[in-house]
Amino acid sequence: MENTTCNMPGLGEKAPEFEAETTQGHIRFPQDFKGKWIILFSHPGDFTPVCTSEFMLFGKMQEEFDALGCQLLGLSVGALTSHIAWLRSIREKIEYKGIRNLDIRFPLIADLTMDVARRYGMIQPGASTTAAVRTVFFIDPHGIVRTFLCYPAVLGRNFDELKRILVGLQTIDAYNVALPADWHPGDDVIAPSGSTMEAIDRRTGNPDEGARCYDWYFCTKPLSEEKVTAGTKH
Ligand code: BEZ
Repeated sequence: MENTTCNMPGLGEKAPEFEAETTQGHIRFPQDFKGKWIILFSHPGDFTPVCTSEFMLFGKMQEEFDALGCQLLGLSVGALTSHIAWLRSIREKIEYKGIRNLDIRFPLIADLTMDVARRYGMIQPGASTTAAVRTVFFIDPHGIVRTFLCYPAVLGRNFDELKRILVGLQTIDAYNVALPADWHPGDDVIAPSGSTMEAIDRRTGNPDEGARCYDWYFCTKPLSEEKVTAGTKH
Protein backbone atom coordinates (compact mmCIF):
# COMPACT_ATOMS: atom_id res chain seq x y z
CA MET A 1 0.00 0.00 0.00
CA GLU A 2 1.28 3.48 -0.82
CA ASN A 3 2.52 5.19 2.32
CA THR A 4 0.07 8.06 2.55
CA THR A 5 -0.03 8.41 6.28
CA CYS A 6 1.91 10.79 8.46
CA ASN A 7 2.04 11.51 12.15
CA MET A 8 -0.57 13.76 13.64
CA PRO A 9 0.91 16.71 15.46
CA GLY A 10 0.53 15.86 19.13
CA LEU A 11 -0.92 17.86 21.99
CA GLY A 12 1.40 20.68 23.03
CA GLU A 13 3.24 20.61 19.69
CA LYS A 14 3.49 23.42 17.15
CA ALA A 15 0.85 23.09 14.44
CA PRO A 16 2.62 22.49 11.10
CA GLU A 17 2.90 25.55 8.86
CA PHE A 18 1.46 25.48 5.35
CA GLU A 19 0.25 27.56 2.44
CA ALA A 20 -2.92 26.60 0.58
CA GLU A 21 -5.57 27.66 -1.93
CA THR A 22 -8.99 28.13 -0.38
CA THR A 23 -12.46 29.35 -1.26
CA GLN A 24 -11.42 32.67 0.32
CA GLY A 25 -8.09 32.94 -1.55
CA HIS A 26 -4.51 31.94 -0.81
CA ILE A 27 -3.69 31.50 2.89
CA ARG A 28 -0.47 31.19 4.86
CA PHE A 29 -0.90 29.30 8.10
CA PRO A 30 -0.43 30.40 10.83
CA GLN A 31 0.83 33.93 9.87
CA ASP A 32 -2.54 35.02 8.43
CA PHE A 33 -4.37 34.20 11.67
CA LYS A 34 -2.14 35.86 14.26
CA GLY A 35 -3.68 36.21 17.71
CA LYS A 36 -6.62 33.92 16.95
CA TRP A 37 -7.71 30.51 18.04
CA ILE A 38 -8.12 28.19 15.05
CA ILE A 39 -10.39 25.23 14.51
CA LEU A 40 -8.84 23.38 11.57
CA PHE A 41 -11.14 20.57 10.50
CA SER A 42 -11.18 18.06 7.66
CA HIS A 43 -14.05 16.28 5.97
CA PRO A 44 -14.11 13.50 3.36
CA GLY A 45 -15.75 15.20 0.41
CA ASP A 46 -17.96 17.78 -1.24
CA PHE A 47 -21.56 16.92 -2.23
CA THR A 48 -21.89 14.24 0.45
CA PRO A 49 -24.70 14.17 3.02
CA VAL A 50 -22.93 14.02 6.41
CA CYS A 51 -20.46 16.71 5.31
CA THR A 52 -23.30 18.90 4.11
CA SER A 53 -25.13 18.58 7.43
CA GLU A 54 -21.90 19.56 9.21
CA PHE A 55 -21.31 22.58 6.98
CA MET A 56 -24.84 23.77 7.70
CA LEU A 57 -23.99 23.75 11.42
CA PHE A 58 -20.48 25.20 11.04
CA GLY A 59 -22.03 27.97 8.92
CA LYS A 60 -24.83 28.60 11.40
CA MET A 61 -22.33 28.88 14.26
CA GLN A 62 -19.67 30.96 12.46
CA GLU A 63 -20.68 34.15 14.34
CA GLU A 64 -20.45 32.33 17.70
CA PHE A 65 -16.94 31.16 16.84
CA ASP A 66 -16.04 34.69 15.60
CA ALA A 67 -17.18 36.10 18.96
CA LEU A 68 -14.82 33.66 20.69
CA GLY A 69 -11.90 34.93 18.60
CA CYS A 70 -11.81 31.66 16.69
CA GLN A 71 -11.18 31.22 12.97
CA LEU A 72 -12.75 28.19 11.30
CA LEU A 73 -10.67 26.55 8.56
CA GLY A 74 -12.07 23.59 6.62
CA LEU A 75 -10.13 21.16 4.45
CA SER A 76 -10.85 18.34 2.09
CA VAL A 77 -9.02 16.56 -0.70
CA GLY A 78 -10.80 18.19 -3.63
CA ALA A 79 -10.59 20.86 -6.30
CA LEU A 80 -11.37 24.50 -5.62
CA THR A 81 -14.01 24.49 -8.38
CA SER A 82 -15.79 21.59 -6.65
CA HIS A 83 -15.64 23.34 -3.24
CA ILE A 84 -17.08 26.53 -4.74
CA ALA A 85 -19.87 24.64 -6.54
CA TRP A 86 -20.77 22.71 -3.36
CA LEU A 87 -20.89 25.83 -1.17
CA ARG A 88 -23.07 27.51 -3.82
CA SER A 89 -25.41 24.51 -3.83
CA ILE A 90 -25.63 24.67 -0.03
CA ARG A 91 -26.48 28.38 -0.19
CA GLU A 92 -29.01 28.11 -3.00
CA LYS A 93 -30.66 24.72 -2.47
CA ILE A 94 -30.31 23.32 1.02
CA GLU A 95 -32.70 24.03 3.86
CA TYR A 96 -31.78 21.90 6.86
CA LYS A 97 -32.99 22.20 10.45
CA GLY A 98 -34.41 25.65 9.69
CA ILE A 99 -31.09 26.87 8.25
CA ARG A 100 -31.22 28.28 4.72
CA ASN A 101 -29.49 30.82 2.42
CA LEU A 102 -26.30 29.96 4.24
CA ASP A 103 -23.22 31.85 3.19
CA ILE A 104 -20.10 29.96 4.31
CA ARG A 105 -17.61 32.76 5.02
CA PHE A 106 -14.70 30.75 6.40
CA PRO A 107 -12.01 29.33 4.07
CA LEU A 108 -12.30 25.79 2.76
CA ILE A 109 -8.88 24.46 1.72
CA ALA A 110 -8.58 22.65 -1.62
CA ASP A 111 -5.93 20.09 -0.71
CA LEU A 112 -5.76 18.18 -3.98
CA THR A 113 -2.17 17.03 -3.37
CA MET A 114 -3.05 15.87 0.19
CA ASP A 115 0.02 17.76 1.34
CA VAL A 116 -1.66 19.50 4.30
CA ALA A 117 -3.85 16.49 5.11
CA ARG A 118 -0.80 14.23 5.39
CA ARG A 119 1.04 16.67 7.63
CA TYR A 120 -1.93 16.67 10.01
CA GLY A 121 -2.55 12.91 9.91
CA MET A 122 -5.94 13.49 8.29
CA ILE A 123 -5.38 10.63 5.85
CA GLN A 124 -5.93 7.39 7.74
CA PRO A 125 -5.25 4.58 5.25
CA GLY A 126 -7.39 2.11 7.20
CA ALA A 127 -10.35 4.34 6.37
CA SER A 128 -9.34 5.76 2.97
CA THR A 129 -6.15 6.56 1.08
CA THR A 130 -7.79 9.25 -1.04
CA ALA A 131 -10.04 11.17 1.35
CA ALA A 132 -9.55 12.79 4.72
CA VAL A 133 -11.35 11.49 7.78
CA ARG A 134 -13.18 13.94 10.07
CA THR A 135 -10.46 15.48 12.21
CA VAL A 136 -10.70 18.63 14.31
CA PHE A 137 -7.60 20.47 15.59
CA PHE A 138 -7.95 23.20 18.21
CA ILE A 139 -4.92 25.44 17.85
CA ASP A 140 -4.25 28.28 20.28
CA PRO A 141 -3.08 31.83 19.44
CA HIS A 142 0.55 30.68 19.93
CA GLY A 143 0.12 28.03 17.23
CA ILE A 144 0.07 25.11 19.68
CA VAL A 145 -2.22 22.09 19.21
CA ARG A 146 -4.40 21.94 22.32
CA THR A 147 -6.98 19.24 21.43
CA PHE A 148 -7.71 17.01 18.48
CA LEU A 149 -10.61 14.76 17.60
CA CYS A 150 -10.99 12.14 14.91
CA TYR A 151 -14.28 10.71 13.64
CA PRO A 152 -15.06 8.28 10.84
CA ALA A 153 -16.74 9.49 7.65
CA VAL A 154 -20.13 8.10 8.63
CA LEU A 155 -20.39 9.91 12.00
CA GLY A 156 -21.14 13.63 12.03
CA ARG A 157 -19.54 15.80 14.72
CA ASN A 158 -21.29 17.26 17.76
CA PHE A 159 -21.21 21.05 17.50
CA ASP A 160 -22.13 21.71 21.14
CA GLU A 161 -19.02 19.72 22.04
CA LEU A 162 -16.82 21.64 19.59
CA LYS A 163 -17.92 24.92 21.20
CA ARG A 164 -17.59 23.45 24.71
CA ILE A 165 -13.99 22.41 23.99
CA LEU A 166 -13.08 25.89 22.71
CA VAL A 167 -14.72 27.69 25.65
CA GLY A 168 -13.17 25.13 28.01
CA LEU A 169 -9.63 25.67 26.68
CA GLN A 170 -10.05 29.45 26.88
CA THR A 171 -11.35 29.16 30.46
CA ILE A 172 -8.45 26.90 31.48
CA ASP A 173 -6.01 29.54 30.17
CA ALA A 174 -7.83 32.53 31.65
CA TYR A 175 -8.23 31.13 35.19
CA ASN A 176 -5.50 28.45 35.52
CA VAL A 177 -8.02 25.74 36.38
CA ALA A 178 -8.90 22.25 35.17
CA LEU A 179 -12.41 21.24 34.15
CA PRO A 180 -14.27 18.17 35.37
CA ALA A 181 -16.26 15.68 33.33
CA ASP A 182 -19.20 17.16 31.46
CA TRP A 183 -18.24 20.70 32.53
CA HIS A 184 -20.32 23.51 31.12
CA PRO A 185 -19.94 27.25 31.76
CA GLY A 186 -21.25 28.02 35.26
CA ASP A 187 -20.34 24.61 36.70
CA ASP A 188 -17.71 24.26 39.42
CA VAL A 189 -14.11 23.99 38.23
CA ILE A 190 -11.14 22.12 39.62
CA ALA A 191 -8.51 24.13 41.44
CA PRO A 192 -5.01 23.87 39.91
CA SER A 193 -3.37 20.53 40.55
CA GLY A 194 -1.82 20.33 43.99
CA SER A 195 -4.46 22.69 45.38
CA THR A 196 -6.18 21.18 48.35
CA MET A 197 -8.66 22.95 50.56
CA GLU A 198 -5.79 23.62 52.98
CA ALA A 199 -3.69 25.13 50.21
CA ILE A 200 -6.60 27.29 49.10
CA ASP A 201 -7.07 28.45 52.72
CA ARG A 202 -3.36 29.12 53.22
CA ARG A 203 -3.07 31.19 50.06
CA THR A 204 -6.12 33.36 50.62
CA GLY A 205 -6.42 33.31 54.38
CA ASN A 206 -10.02 32.18 53.78
CA PRO A 207 -11.56 29.19 52.16
CA ASP A 208 -12.61 30.13 48.61
CA GLU A 209 -16.29 30.89 48.81
CA GLY A 210 -18.08 27.71 47.83
CA ALA A 211 -14.89 25.66 47.51
CA ARG A 212 -15.41 22.00 48.24
CA CYS A 213 -13.05 19.07 48.72
CA TYR A 214 -14.37 15.57 48.07
CA ASP A 215 -11.09 14.18 49.41
CA TRP A 216 -7.56 15.55 49.77
CA TYR A 217 -6.82 15.20 46.03
CA PHE A 218 -10.10 16.45 44.56
CA CYS A 219 -11.21 20.03 45.25
CA THR A 220 -13.58 22.21 43.24
CA LYS A 221 -14.57 25.84 43.42
CA PRO A 222 -17.25 27.89 41.72
CA LEU A 223 -16.59 29.90 38.55
CA SER A 224 -19.62 31.85 37.41
CA GLU A 225 -20.87 31.88 33.85
CA GLU A 226 -20.20 35.64 33.80
CA LYS A 227 -16.54 35.02 34.63
CA VAL A 228 -16.32 32.35 31.94
CA THR A 229 -17.78 34.82 29.44
CA ALA A 230 -15.31 37.50 30.57
CA GLY A 231 -12.42 35.02 30.17
CA THR A 232 -13.44 34.11 26.63
CA LYS A 233 -14.04 37.71 25.43
CA HIS A 234 -12.07 38.63 22.33
C1 BEZ B 1 -20.87 11.84 3.95
O1 BEZ B 1 -20.48 12.99 4.17
O2 BEZ B 1 -22.05 11.55 3.95
C2 BEZ B 1 -19.88 10.77 3.66
C3 BEZ B 1 -18.68 11.08 3.04
C4 BEZ B 1 -17.78 10.06 2.76
C5 BEZ B 1 -18.07 8.75 3.11
C6 BEZ B 1 -19.28 8.46 3.75
C7 BEZ B 1 -20.17 9.47 4.05
